[in-house]
Amino acid sequence: MSAGTTGLDLDAPKPDAKEPNPVIRFLKGAELLGQCAVNPGETIVDHAEACGIRLPTNCTSGTCGTCMVSLILGEVPLPETLPPGLDDFLVEEGARLGCIGLPVGDVDIDIRPPI
Ligand code: FES
Repeated sequence: MSAGTTGLDLDAPKPDAKEPNPVIRFLKGAELLGQCAVNPGETIVDHAEACGIRLPTNCTSGTCGTCMVSLILGEVPLPETLPPGLDDFLVEEGARLGCIGLPVGDVDIDIRPPI
């Protein structure tokens, strides 16, 4: 028997490319610690607090690197000039600074720095 069409080939609903309500998830390795809706203009640290997760911070201005996390999936755009708390090597490894990083769309963050 072949798996041919039956003539009742209805248009299947096609999922939209963009989720209407983006979500940020916080992980530690494979363990999901929490997730919440992305609020544009709020930092990774703000989102973590909304999820009940406390990320360590110090300067809160991108200088010290205390809040460094790893971007696993999605977009957290970088400033044109990297802040003192980041360098090119760390960025290549997925590093972002929680105190200044603004997630865009669905994002997965490992709360640990990449290195
Ligand atoms: S707390 Fe210092 S770089 Fe984020």
